[in-house]
Amino acid sequence: MNKLAITGKGGVGKTTLASVLAYLYARDGRRVLAIDADPAANLALSLGFPPELAERITPIAEMEDLIYERTGAKPGTVGGWFRLNPRVDDIPDRFSAEHRGIRLLRLGTVKQGGSGCLCPENALLRALVTHLLLGRDEVVIMDMEAGVEHLGRATAQAVDALIVVVEPGRRSLGTAHLIRDLAGDIGLRRVYVVANKMRDERDRAFIESQARAEGFEVLGYLPADPRVIEADFTGQAVFDAAPEFVRAVEEVKQRLETLSPSEEVSES
Ligand SMILES: Nc1ncnc2c1ncn2[C@@H]1O[C@H](COP(=O)(O)OP(=O)(O)OP(=O)(O)O)[C@@H](O)[C@H]1O
Ligand SMILES: [Mg+2]
Repeated sequence: MNKLAITGKGGVGKTTLASVLAYLYARDGRRVLAIDADPAANLALSLGFPPELAERITPIAEMEDLIYERTGAKPGTVGGWFRLNPRVDDIPDRFSAEHRGIRLLRLGTVKQGGSGCLCPENALLRALVTHLLLGRDEVVIMDMEAGVEHLGRATAQAVDALIVVVEPGRRSLGTAHLIRDLAGDIGLRRVYVVANKMRDERDRAFIESQARAEGFEVLGYLPADPRVIEADFTGQAVFDAAPEFVRAVEEVKQRLETLSPSEEVSES
């Protein structure tokens, strides 16, 4: 398992899970690239990056000069000519920051025209994500919004697992459905669920039965843990602050490793 993408609706714990997985792989001696692909970027915080280091990481979508230099067009240009295959291989190392063995890169958002917009900044982000997933051999962990933004047909096959984080509640798997459909559209079938903020056995049983009924494989159940929230306040890495939560994520990681990344999933 090398390339993981984490998604789910707002506030379910995507960033928290991404940060702990990053530490667990780094602890194994793996090189880890954590990618903040969520506009409301706070992965640096969950990873416990010192604020002054986090501030130095500029989201790629905001680097106007870089976008111009690489694509030949100014950001915000819609239509017109620009390079669809800009050079990106130097970007991960140049524009990320490293802390405790984890490199962090921020993608930022494309403000104009929405996700599908045919504009230079999108071309650069697309090329970059393709490179990150296909051209690099470290563990890549992408913290995304709900959906499969930033992924496309070209990259879908490189994602070993799209993890949808859900929390207890009657509609908990609603977003997961939507995401599974979107993922299916680009040929990404390796979609799994991680249930977070479990308060008791009842929460767990509820998710279990829903998931079974709807054909979702649940990789693990993470406890609701006040120490996770506490880490938010103190700026500590969740990994350091919430050992019980970390143990539950370790189980998720173990489950991930039993899934075969090369497993052929037929197109339907
Ligand atoms: N297992 C948990 N127990 C208690 N609190 C949690 C747990 N997981 C996450 N939280 C808290 O829930 C809030 C949202 O978590 P997080 O930022 O990881 O979610 P997210 O899905 O990335 O949110 P966003 O959609 O805003 O990016 C944070 O305050 C976090 O501390
Ligand atoms: Mg987040």
